[in-house]
Amino acid sequence: MIRRARVEDAAGIAATHVDSWRTTYPDMVPDSYLLGMSESAYTRRWSAILADRARIHGSFVAVEPPIGVVGFASCGAQRTGLEGYGGEFYALYLYDHAQNRGIGRHLMAAMATELMNYGMNSAVVWVLAVNPSRWFYERLGGRRLAEKIADFAGAELTEVAYGWRDLAPLARLSADPPVR
Ligand SMILES: CC(C)(COP(=O)(O)OP(=O)(O)OC[C@H]1O[C@@H](n2cnc3c(N)ncnc32)[C@H](O)[C@@H]1OP(=O)(O)O)[C@@H](O)C(=O)NCCC(=O)NCCS
Repeated sequence: MIRRARVEDAAGIAATHVDSWRTTYPDMVPDSYLLGMSESAYTRRWSAILADRARIHGSFVAVEPPIGVVGFASCGAQRTGLEGYGGEFYALYLYDHAQNRGIGRHLMAAMATELMNYGMNSAVVWVLAVNPSRWFYERLGGRRLAEKIADFAGAELTEVAYGWRDLAPLARLSADPPVR
């Protein structure tokens, strides 16, 4: 089930966040950065984000009983000044066992719908150039737009931006057959 995230999901989101980084990014992001990620710090951060009603921000969770949160996504206004793109997909992370079952596609559709409801009809996502998930974004119609260098615990890594000029086709993916 995919639904809007609530404050009480903060711990589940944080656990997913940290686990997904540690399983996705070994050999891409320095060990010291991954080891330094703290579930309790991320729980506090997500609690604050989810409690802040003034912020234009959409967060969703994929929930699988009896496990709880198995994936999450968050989006909002674009932060990096790429001209012509109002929204940004900030984060999208699933546990290993939840991947390749259509959940990512449904979370992208939920975010696209949310951004359109805020009047943002286009969006970008930044992804590490070495992350194979960039093919997921290409599969969902993202067009490669730009590159930048980001610092992770002293390592300078290349990030690639993908853009969607029109979010409507992405939002319509939620009308696809249910999650496999
Ligand atoms: C990237 C991620 C969110 C994708 O979600 P998912 O639920 O596994 O993907 P889906 O099952 O919805 O796949 C949708 C389509 O993308 C394709 N796809 C997904 N991951 C892919 C990959 N790494 N390479 C190529 N194609 C991929 C699927 O084959 C599917 O194609 P189809 O329409 O032909 O069936 C998920 O795998 C994940 O959390 N990865 C680890 C964390 C991560 O890298 N997050 C992104 C950070 S920017």
